[in-house]
Amino acid sequence: MLNTFTKAAIGVLLAAGGLTASLSVQAQGAAKASAPPAAPAAIVGNADAGAKKNSMCIGCHGIADYKTAFPTVYRVPKINSQSEKYIVSALNAYKSGERNHPSMVGISRSLSDQDMADLAAYYANKK
Ligand code: HEC
Repeated sequence: MLNTFTKAAIGVLLAAGGLTASLSVQAQGAAKASAPPAAPAAIVGNADAGAKKNSMCIGCHGIADYKTAFPTVYRVPKINSQSEKYIVSALNAYKSGERNHPSMVGISRSLSDQDMADLAAYYANKK
C-alpha cells in the first residue's frame, strides 16, 4: 500500500520534473528568439554610483585624500586615472581566476558587472 503510494508519488515528481524541464527549455528558446542577451558593452558605468561602492577598495587602493592605506606593507597598484576598460578587464580577470591575487579574487567575485563598470568610471576620473 505504502509502496504503491510511494511509487505513485515518485511518478508524479518525475512527471513534474520533466514538465519543468521542458517548460524551461521552451522558455529559453523563446527568450533567445525575442530578446538576445545584452552584450556586456551595453553596461554603462556611473562614477557617482561607483563613489558609493568604493568603501571596500579605499583601504588598499588609497586615494590621495585617504591616508590610512598601507603602501609600505602592501604594494597596491594605483588605479586612479586608469582607463575604465583596463579596470573592468582587470576585475574580470580576478573574478575568472585568470589573475589570482587572493584579496582581489575575493573582492571581484562580490562585484556585479554593473558594480565593476561604476567603480571603473569612478576611478578613471579620480586623480
Ligand atoms: C585587501 C586589499 C585590497 C582591496 C580591499 C582592494 N584591492 Fe584591488 N588590488 C589589491 C592588490 C594587492 C592588487 C595587485 C594584485 C596583483 O598583483 O594582481 C590589486 C589590483 C587591483 C586592480 C588591477 C590594477 C592593475 O594595475 O592591474 C584593480 C583594477 C583593482 N585592484 C581594483 C579594486 C577595486 C575596484 C576594489 C574595491 C571593490 C579593490 N581593488 C579592493 C589590493 C586590494
